[in-house]
Amino acid sequence: MALTVEQQFFLAILLIAFPFSALSGDPDILSDFVVPLGTNNSQLDGNFFTYTGMRPLINSPPPTNFTVTKASMAEFPALNGQSVSYAVLEYPAGSVNPPHTHPRATELLFLTYGILEVGFVDTTNKLFTQRLQAGDMFVFPKGLVHYQINSAENDFAVAISAFGSAAAGTVSVPSTVFGTDIDDDILAKSFKTDVQTIQKIKAGFPPKA
Ligand SMILES: *[C@@H]1O[C@H](CO)[C@@H](O)[C@H](O)[C@H]1NC(C)=O
Ligand SMILES: *[C@@H]1O[C@H](CO)[C@@H](O)[C@H](O)[C@H]1NC(C)=O
Repeated sequence: MALTVEQQFFLAILLIAFPFSALSGDPDILSDFVVPLGTNNSQLDGNFFTYTGMRPLINSPPPTNFTVTKASMAEFPALNGQSVSYAVLEYPAGSVNPPHTHPRATELLFLTYGILEVGFVDTTNKLFTQRLQAGDMFVFPKGLVHYQINSAENDFAVAISAFGSAAAGTVSVPSTVFGTDIDDDILAKSFKTDVQTIQKIKAGFPPKA
């Protein structure tokens, strides 16, 4: 049976697209789990699969600034190859988690205390917002720009976010754009403003040494 031109074209698209669809999460591993190089497997026990780095958050007073405490592959090596990670987000009254993206993961936020305003922007520039109360969940689709703010005047908020990657990555829009020595003229043209305005904004985002 000969394929029509349309069928051949469709087949070609499928063949091109398929390898990418298979890479929509972290790469699959060919073992039950991944241990750091040099680990003696016979000495491996439950401790390797346990992360205790969140213990200090329990019963400690809420921080005075917005704070993220991560349990990703960097902090918890047993997550390597498992396509999951967590972060605990603490928002003092009035604090914001500025617009950012996670290039490698969807984020599922679970608000455990307080009130939180959240939003994300899709690739057509449509903004989706919500006011969450404790017990609510919100999903930020993979790779899209999103933010959270605690608009309360007196109360803090706490959320736990799960990620579909052991290393979700974070790209902060303000510091990526204004804290990385991108030429002032390029930014002025891009943001349809003048160099003085760009320099004023840049002053708030000193580049990392
Ligand atoms: C791995 O650990 C076991 C048990 O402690 C020990 O008998 C063995 O010699 C170790 N192997 C290596 C290569 O160090
Ligand atoms: C909170 O942020 C303020 C202003 O940026 C800073 O001066 C202060 O050191 C921060 N406090 C903590 C505990 O990080």
